[in-house]
Amino acid sequence: MSSLHTEAFEAAGQLHLLHRLDQLSGEQEARFRNDLARLDLPRLQQLWNGKEGHSTQGHPQTPTLIGLEESTLRAKARSRGEDLLARGTVACLTVAGGQGSRLGWDGPKGTYPSAPISGDSLFAQFAGQILRETVRYGQPVQWCIMTSPLNHGATVDFFDKHQHFGLDPRTIHFFIQGVMPSLDRESGRVLLAGPDKIAFNPDGHGGTLRALAGSGLLAKLRAQGVGHLSYFQVDNPLVRALDPVFLGLHVDEDLSSGEATSKAVAKREPDEKVGVFGVRDGELTVLEYSDLPPDIAEATDSDGTLRFRAGNMAVHAFSLDFLSRVTAEGGLPFHRAIKKVPFFDDSTGTMHEPLAPNALKYEAFIFDALPQASRPIVVEAERAQEFAPIKNAEGQDSPQTSRAAQCARAGTWLTTAGVDISRNEQGEPESELEIRPSTATCPQDLASLALPKHLGAGERFLV
Ligand code: UTP
Repeated sequence: MSSLHTEAFEAAGQLHLLHRLDQLSGEQEARFRNDLARLDLPRLQQLWNGKEGHSTQGHPQTPTLIGLEESTLRAKARSRGEDLLARGTVACLTVAGGQGSRLGWDGPKGTYPSAPISGDSLFAQFAGQILRETVRYGQPVQWCIMTSPLNHGATVDFFDKHQHFGLDPRTIHFFIQGVMPSLDRESGRVLLAGPDKIAFNPDGHGGTLRALAGSGLLAKLRAQGVGHLSYFQVDNPLVRALDPVFLGLHVDEDLSSGEATSKAVAKREPDEKVGVFGVRDGELTVLEYSDLPPDIAEATDSDGTLRFRAGNMAVHAFSLDFLSRVTAEGGLPFHRAIKKVPFFDDSTGTMHEPLAPNALKYEAFIFDALPQASRPIVVEAERAQEFAPIKNAEGQDSPQTSRAAQCARAGTWLTTAGVDISRNEQGEPESELEIRPSTATCPQDLASLALPKHLGAGERFLV
């Protein structure tokens, strides 16, 4: 038996791992030991025993939403936000460590060609926005990108291959999130991904907190004068990476503590698979769609709109101080999900591809930080302008729906800029349209361009 603490493995019900280790030698043994050293056995046991997790008790209330329509508030917020950006105090943070299993793309999701005409990748589209704002505000924007050990190399290679999309590589900061072992859902035993490998999965977007602090990036950003992060996911090409109005509201002392601000879009129908913002025991929280009882999901106001309609689009602004505090106070809880995980069967020495979900995966969620924020606010955004995620290979939230939404938004912006666009009976453009983010991140950016007077059916227009 190995020199590792047998009692600890036995107490955690993971003795099979030491038996496996005893079968190995040389490089394989070293590799497996390395994996074993990453296990937090007491925590695993606690998770398996169900002693950790987020409470879903208590009747939720609806949160107050702040609208973004033209107003004095908006104008004030814009100028405050522009000031933050001109002083270089806001960095972008993209979480890109997920496995993207629903999309099924062979590579990190950020490398997916999401743009309708150019076929630019999600990473290229975000980089275009950051480049545009860098020029506008005359300040380099620091861009933090969270990867996982499973996709880090491929992500960094992609940026190298594309010369960092014209950005200064010194402003791009990759940091790697942690992992959690997948457990067999019947026995709680840690699954193997091979004879000398534990089956690890990334520890969720909530892993951002530990990884930011642990990598030293939080301290580095502070040293560069950054005070706030504009957080967004890798899957939404319509996201406003640096929205001055949103950032200005975030730091408006009359409204918010400047710790945590979130954007919401109106949920389309009661069973749309999106979490909604709610208030429980006075704390802002996100109610996951899977936890939402039908009576709450379907409840409507007197005008017929869904009562809990503030869909979480996973866009937040966080102060660095807030993230440090939550990390220091113990971080975020893990949630469990039942998933299909291929595994190595020690008894037969072969890999198995399960047909049904066989494993428990543990992930932390970034929005679990919200209840710990003082005076957090939720700002309502327009879906057609800002939200078209790519989650699935087909159907809702797929590359097709996202491309159509990108084309529709480009049509709206071009119309605002005076271009006459042929539209079908549903009001959708009959031409294929793409506005690169490096060209424009808002309709006003089109004003200085020479645009066609008319775009007819079947035409393609890329600017
Ligand atoms: P999703 O919840 O869509 O998960 O992630 P996913 O792993 O990308 O995709 P599926 O469920 O396997 O199809 C939402 C965002 O959070 C990031 C993702 O990269 C995406 O930007 N994420 C998710 C991480 O950065 N790390 C994780 O461990 C999980």
